[in-house]
Order: sequence, then C-alpha cells, then structure tokens
Amino acid sequence: MSELDRIREEFHTRLGEAVASGSREAEEAVREVRHDFLGRQRGRLTAYLKKVKDLPEQERRTAGARANQIKQEIEGALEAAEATLARRPAADHRAIDITLPGTATRPGCVHPLAIVRREIEEIFLEMGYTVEEGPETETDFNNFTALNIPPDHPARDMQDTFYLEGGGLLRTHTSPAQIRTMMKTRPPLKIICPGRAFRRDAADATHSPIFHQVEGLAVDAGIGLADLKGTLLEMGRRLFGQRVRVRLRPSYFPFVEPGAEFDVSCFLCDGAGCRTCKRSGWIEMGGAGMVHPAVFDGVGYDSDLYTGFAFGCGIDRIAMVKFGIEDIRLLFENDLRFLEQFRGAS
Ligand code: PHE
Repeated sequence: MSELDRIREEFHTRLGEAVASGSREAEEAVREVRHDFLGRQRGRLTAYLKKVKDLPEQERRTAGARANQIKQEIEGALEAAEATLARRPAADHRAIDITLPGTATRPGCVHPLAIVRREIEEIFLEMGYTVEEGPETETDFNNFTALNIPPDHPARDMQDTFYLEGGGLLRTHTSPAQIRTMMKTRPPLKIICPGRAFRRDAADATHSPIFHQVEGLAVDAGIGLADLKGTLLEMGRRLFGQRVRVRLRPSYFPFVEPGAEFDVSCFLCDGAGCRTCKRSGWIEMGGAGMVHPAVFDGVGYDSDLYTGFAFGCGIDRIAMVKFGIEDIRLLFENDLRFLEQFRGAS
C-alpha cells in the first residue's frame, strides 16, 4: 500500500471515531483530525505534498495529482462531518418536557436552639452587651484553675470531663469564656458567650453529653447582686413573658461568692404548679453569682476596685420548656419531622 493510501485510510478511520465520540466532544475531535491531516505545520497530507515537490518530473505529476484528489476527498469528508455535527442538537439542549411534575425544594427553617440563642443575643445586645465566642476545646487552666476550681474538685473527675490527648479538654461549661475575655480586656465589660459544652453524661430524656449554655459576665466598679437579679429578671421576662418572676437559691460554684442557682416562675401555670415545672411552680435556669475575688486576682483585675456578676444557663432547657419538647435528644437528632415543626417560630 502506498504512503498516500495509508494516509487516506487512517484519515477515514480517525474521522469515523471522532464523529462517533460523545456529542459534546465530537466537534473538538473532528477539529483535531483536521489539524492532524491538513495542518499547515505538521499535517500528514501537507507533509506528503511537500515531499512530492522533490520527486522527479514524471512521478511528481501522477503522485501530485493523486495527492490533490485525496486532499479534496479529505476536505469534503471533514466539511460534511462538521456540518452534520453542527445540526445535531447537543445533549444538554434536549427538549424539556414542561408537563412533567416539578421537584419541590424543601426550604430550611431555624433550629429551635438557634431560635433561643438568637433571642438571648438580642436581649443582651439591647442591654449593651457584646457577644463573645470561645473555643470548644479548652485548657485545664481556663476551664478549671483560673475559675478557682481546685485540683481535687469533683468537677475535674474523669467522670465529668472529656480529656483530650495532649492535655486539653472539651470545655465542661462556657465559663472559661469569662477568663478569656478578662485576660484580653480591661473593665468595665459586659459580655455573653453562647456555645456548646460537653460532659461525660449518659444520654437520656434530660441529659446529653453535648449541651448548650450561655455565659454572662459584667464587671465594673460598684456592680452588686441587685444588678444580677435585675438582669436575670429582664432575660426571664423577655424569654417567657412579663409576668414571670426570678428567684435565687443559695448554691456553690467555686468561681462566685455568693453563688446561687436561679429559677424563673413557670410561665405556663404562673407558679401554681403544672407538668412543665414538675408541680414546683419554678423552672430551673442555671447558676449565677458575684465573681469571686480569686478569679479577679488571677486575671490581674483589682478586686478592691471592681466587682462583677456572672451567670450561666442552659439553652437546651430553655428551648425545651418554651416549645414543650419532652426529650433533649430530639434537639440533636436532626429529624426533619421534628425540626419542621419550628418553621415560622423564629
Ligand atoms: N458554669 C456553671 C455551670 O455550668 C454555671 C455558672 C456560671 C455558675 C456562672 C455561676 C456563674 O454549672
């Protein structure tokens, strides 16, 4: 077989393959075939035609004539292929059947915990607080030592704390955010810090190893217990309605003195006792107190000049009583049938 015949045969094979390839790549493949055979620089046929010039007169005539004939054949085949491809509708331009039923998109809605967190942020922003964010992995120092929790305190027990390799831990409360804030700012200050906290609790209807708190801290000269109670009352009323009252029950947290747990009167039964408040008339909100002087000393605040209050309350609990959620685990399972009930609640 002569070189020219080989070129011709190969061309037809290549063109056949190019046209058969997926419709989107076919045009590109045909362009490549054109380049490989007719390209000015390295086209196979172009090269052959250049060689023909050097042949002796007699041979040159016949070979030249045959080569030009094949060139026309190739040219024609390429044009025909290009025209066919141009007419062929591209795969992504296929007709759309507008009578088919559509696929509905399901718009998201705000998670009940986010609804409560945003509400709390709003309340405190209006009172001039700033919202701080602390990391979920903490140092032993920020989570315990700086909060005046001595090394043998039960809160440090392996039972309660998730320790990490390398000495860190998952914060067991949002209170380390107090330390971080005081380390980087001078008084006066008013902050809240909402976020996740972690404890080695077995999950049941009222316990979850991951839960949410919001920490509050206000430091200035002359801040007293009445400021704390007034602030908690404002939060309680904004969350549950103007009728609710707040009470402080003496309690102990190493980083406050005096320390208390605080409750709001039940917004459903107005204190008479019902299912939501477990017949007590009160709903437990969290812990609070006046910042312990030892904590101020640790962060370099003058505890003779400054006083402050701090509180920490559970966002999950608030969401549960507010929305009548009976099992805390529902807040973490992301079951859409549950979550979609809060559409429009924010
Ligand atoms: N950090 C405490 C807890 O999680 C709550 C608390 C915060 C108590 C601030 C007093 C002051 O139990």
